[in-house]
Amino acid sequence: MSNSSTTMDKIVALCKRRGFIFQSSEIYGGIGGFWDYGPLGVELKRNVKETWWRDMVSGHDETTAPAGAPSTYGMVGLDTTIIMDPKVWKASGHFDLFYDLFVDCKTCKARFRADQIESSACPRKPSRRPGEHDECELTEPREFNLMFKTYVGALLDPTAEAYLRPETAQGMFVNFKNVLSTARVKVPFGIAQIGKAFRNEITPRNFTFRSREFEQMEIEFFCSPESSEAWYAYWRDRRVAWYEALGLKSEKLQLREHGPSERAHYSCGTADIEYAFPFLPDGEFGELEGVSHRSDFDLRSHMEGKLVRDGDELVVARDEHGQPVQPGSGKDLSYFDDATQTKYVPHVIEPSAGADRTTLALLCEAYAEDAIPDEKGVPQERVVLRLHPRIAPVKAAVFPLVKKDGQPEIAAAIYRGLKRRWNAFYDEKGSIGKRYRRQDESGTPFCITVDHQTLDDETVTLRDRDTTEQRRVKIVELESILAERLSD
Ligand code: GAP
Repeated sequence: MSNSSTTMDKIVALCKRRGFIFQSSEIYGGIGGFWDYGPLGVELKRNVKETWWRDMVSGHDETTAPAGAPSTYGMVGLDTTIIMDPKVWKASGHFDLFYDLFVDCKTCKARFRADQIESSACPRKPSRRPGEHDECELTEPREFNLMFKTYVGALLDPTAEAYLRPETAQGMFVNFKNVLSTARVKVPFGIAQIGKAFRNEITPRNFTFRSREFEQMEIEFFCSPESSEAWYAYWRDRRVAWYEALGLKSEKLQLREHGPSERAHYSCGTADIEYAFPFLPDGEFGELEGVSHRSDFDLRSHMEGKLVRDGDELVVARDEHGQPVQPGSGKDLSYFDDATQTKYVPHVIEPSAGADRTTLALLCEAYAEDAIPDEKGVPQERVVLRLHPRIAPVKAAVFPLVKKDGQPEIAAAIYRGLKRRWNAFYDEKGSIGKRYRRQDESGTPFCITVDHQTLDDETVTLRDRDTTEQRRVKIVELESILAERLSD
């Protein structure tokens, strides 16, 4: 069976059964929009983040232009705080503009996103759309700021109010000058960051897809105004290729360019990289990543104050006395380009990805059901996660066929050797068929079994998760074989 039979219920059940993802605070009934990653899930998501970091940041070679790039470029990382000076969110526009419209039902007290009424269900039975029961009494749409508020210090008054960041991006913009003066980088260059973001979503839904606490993997790429269109095209293509290389099939992946009315007021171009998640109707896609051409909006906002659009221009929003409504830092964030002897405010291209959505898409794509013969040749149904070896939580599992004749000792020694390099797993309990199937469900690409023949010729069987083929290999060659296969 192919993975066309994948449903969200199956994914959620597998995640719970195998310890990928649990509902947060489950023993107390759970809290909506928050998810915990279990022992396998934390490895999977960590591998997603590490693969992104390696491919985008630490593995980047600034002496060579990658295919499709307009020129060479630098790439550095940052790790900035979740709580920042509230002035950051005022200048960036989040304080005034980062809201969704919601509608309340006065009868059943349920709350719905105004733009999702058509796809929402009224909690009254039989379930219908909000507003369709006789007793429904819906309010007019109202604004709801998505930033979580907290207090810094002992005083619980408005002067102590602060916010949990709703995106990691702003930490990179406000550190632009620090990076420029310390990292020996020149425009064009990118700053990357992976970290938690928080949004008080009105209707979290679809498992981890829309959560209230999630992780982003963002790049803020600074370039000259003239080269910005070419960099925008480069990053769109580069990011799509990254998802494809991790195994997301092209027919389930799409790049969708936003029309002018869908774009944020500062954006000169935005494209979403989308995946056909199984919770969506056929033909519909959900956002994995947004790639945005943000012009000079961000650096100018943090210099001059909150910007609003006036015709073709972005201008500082001013009060009746001509003062900025939300002032910026007043610091000069422009750049002097030695090569062209010009000064400008760099433009920004932002590929902004979600670590949780990427993890979920990879799980959905990897899920498959098929039938394989057991030890007696009888076909047995199995669930298998065909995860790319780079992101598989466990790379190899090692088993003794039986718990005697010195087999466990040899298997444990192999396990210890592999563990020095990769996340490996040792298991000696249960039938060999059940042990294989448990690893198939966990997405482990290779199983290594020590058997009677091992005692004679120092070989083991190496089983491939996807084909279930087994071949005999010498113990001394295991590490080099795995190194080659795991880097595929
Ligand atoms: N700095 C730009 C920015 O934050 P965004 O499109 O709002 O842009 C970027 O978010 C990515 O963050 C999304 O493509 C998605 O992968 C992830 N994301 C956003 N909201 C999310 C949520 N409520 N739950 C899980 N992931 C989310």
